[in-house]
Amino acid sequence: MISEIDLIANFVQRFQAQPRVFARAPGRVNILGEHVDYNDGVVLPMAIDREVGIAARKIDSNEVNLVALDLNEEVVFTQQSLQEKKDKWGEPLPKWALYPAGVAWVLSQKCHPVSGLQAVFSSSIPIGAGLSSSAAVEVAFATLWSALDGWQLQPLELAQACQQAENEYVGVACGLLDQFSSVCGVEGHLLFFDTRSLEWKPLQFFEDCVIVIADSRVERSLASSEYNRRRETCEEAVRHLQRFLPNLKSLRDISPVEFAAYREYLPQEAQRRAEHVVKEIARVYSAVTALKNQDRRAFGALMYASHYSLRDDYEVSHPNLDILVEIAKQLPGCYGARLTGAGFGGCTVNMVAKSEVERFVEQLDRLYYERTRVQGKVFAVVASQGASWKLV
Ligand code: GLA
Repeated sequence: MISEIDLIANFVQRFQAQPRVFARAPGRVNILGEHVDYNDGVVLPMAIDREVGIAARKIDSNEVNLVALDLNEEVVFTQQSLQEKKDKWGEPLPKWALYPAGVAWVLSQKCHPVSGLQAVFSSSIPIGAGLSSSAAVEVAFATLWSALDGWQLQPLELAQACQQAENEYVGVACGLLDQFSSVCGVEGHLLFFDTRSLEWKPLQFFEDCVIVIADSRVERSLASSEYNRRRETCEEAVRHLQRFLPNLKSLRDISPVEFAAYREYLPQEAQRRAEHVVKEIARVYSAVTALKNQDRRAFGALMYASHYSLRDDYEVSHPNLDILVEIAKQLPGCYGARLTGAGFGGCTVNMVAKSEVERFVEQLDRLYYERTRVQGKVFAVVASQGASWKLV
């Protein structure tokens, strides 16, 4: 993202006026608990120091005029045109504009008709890499409209409104993990989030360890169609299990031991998908215990186990992600590594001893290139605060 000062300068240049509000929302990395948020499971993400920033001001007309600085594109839509996912002139909205438009659409339905505005925004979150660049755009715009229009939603309600925008307007059946993390991030902490009860609490991470992200630079192909299919297969597994366990509502309701007893009654594909979900939820609880016991090795081992399960049972990995994990595992100071986010490409997340971080970053970068001839991007992140806004 370009700096706040540059964003404001760009705003002044484009609109010949001063912006009034600066809003920001971070991306996230999920440390453990993958593909369980739409199964009522528990997750362990953190908000990261990569974010979306917007400089904006309210205007009298009902036009929403957005400049996406990174893409050098501009869009204008109105309350009426967004119903049809069109711009003011009747042209289909480009993909990037569906996120702010979806948020405007949901907020308007929730009795907060959004005001017209002029806005310039930029992001430092790699796009389509599994670090929730789209959720951060949604949350940043929801935060912006709340600031400009003077209403407030509870943090989780705001996250849910953004999730609804993604589900119903953009058309991806995602869970609440990404939007929750972007709204509720706490500096220096992981977030333990129960997606069923919506209870959550910040947890201090190991003080002598750092989270390192490795972007494979592999485009995520088929991500949204395969994602939606995984979700359907989980629902199918629930329907089969309900024949034996009528009170079961989601895969959250069955323990790994119980699941072993009923596994064989499920269709082949559903067996493996459900196995991942059931065990991944158990891994998150084990990780919380490992954290409490300051057991770095146990925590890291759970990350590796999660990766293998996502690769073999859930089948959302990619050969380049497997290579990144394989290399990381051999490097000094690495406790754990796994793919993060929806998968099919994107990033891995690594837990590394602070004293070894520089060497780890350099070596993973170099060895990944030597193996694949793809120039990845490896960088350490810190846990950051959730979305916020201020007057400028
Ligand atoms: C995407 C979705 C999340 C979650 C993850 C997988 O990031 O947006 O809701 O399902 O994939 O854990």
